[in-house]
Amino acid sequence: MSDKNKLSVQALQWQDDVLLVLDQRQLPGTIIYDHCKTAASVAEAIKLMRVRGAPAIGIAAGYGVVLSVKKHYVSSPGNWRILVKEDIELLSGSRPTAVNLFWALEQMQKKINEITGNPINEVEQLAIRIHQDDIASNKKMGRLGADILGDAKSVMTHCNAGALATGGYGTALGVIRSAVERGGLTVFAGETRPWLQGARLTAWELAQDGIAVILIADSAAAYLMASNQIDWIIVGADRIAKNGDVANKIGTYSLAVLAKQHGVKMMVVAPTSTIDWDISDGSQIAIEERSAIELLPECYLQSDSIVTAWNPVFDVTPAELISVIVTENGVAMNPVAGGVEKLKK
Ligand code: MRU
Repeated sequence: MSDKNKLSVQALQWQDDVLLVLDQRQLPGTIIYDHCKTAASVAEAIKLMRVRGAPAIGIAAGYGVVLSVKKHYVSSPGNWRILVKEDIELLSGSRPTAVNLFWALEQMQKKINEITGNPINEVEQLAIRIHQDDIASNKKMGRLGADILGDAKSVMTHCNAGALATGGYGTALGVIRSAVERGGLTVFAGETRPWLQGARLTAWELAQDGIAVILIADSAAAYLMASNQIDWIIVGADRIAKNGDVANKIGTYSLAVLAKQHGVKMMVVAPTSTIDWDISDGSQIAIEERSAIELLPECYLQSDSIVTAWNPVFDVTPAELISVIVTENGVAMNPVAGGVEKLKK
């Protein structure tokens, strides 16, 4: 790889019989890769958010299937298909909202169904291709998104839709990387409570590439927009419905409402593997609720505490609040007018 194409941050590295997963719970203080050698350990890494972000979850699951096939084809040649199917079910239960997970597992299952001989090589090649295609899509979306930004001076992003959340380069952060390369762009990142994907991951990831970033408290976004400091909000997505409604990290919807009030434009960047062609609108998207423990201060964790928490980790932004959806197949400007159907290939 030339220096220009080198990926600075890699959430996932495949090494034949082991998937290396950069433990994102420990960033930015500790940089450590977990060694996942079974589908169950990959499912656990997704569930615990050691790996997170819609495309990265799908890619990790693909490699999880490879680990499963390698194990069961050798140890149980008579019924490996049944055992691999069980692992696929386990992987599909790891997180509910990002459709990339189910998309990748479906690709893997389809390939397995087609194979008559030794499946190992073909299944491994497919997982690697899903990973490589994602990086290529991100590079393409980066260029398309930067074209749309034109001479915008300042943007804000939410959560982490970067290299850490994908095969590499990132979706929203891919556009930001590409735009920064073309000229001066001021980048704001919301801290993204409660898990702090913005403060811990986006700020760290951009800094690794020498891209300056200004962190704000989530609650400062309205004032940032009211004081005319940003032109665009740029985010990724976990699932996009056919009508252009977008599920993404909790708080995206509030940003979109604020953007409308202040004349700021809203860009969603996601590969078509994030589009759920089976659902007509965002009301059909399963929204993950995570444990109250991730939100509550420690003093409220005793079993007799009357302080509890509600912790939905995604929300749905209606298409009418989105200016453009950028995919590797092209862009849907003003998606409320025609949804995303034209991006299907
Ligand atoms: O809970 P997370 O950290 O997995 O949520 C991630 C997001 O919401 C991202 O914005 C989305 O997956 C797009 S990543 C390219």
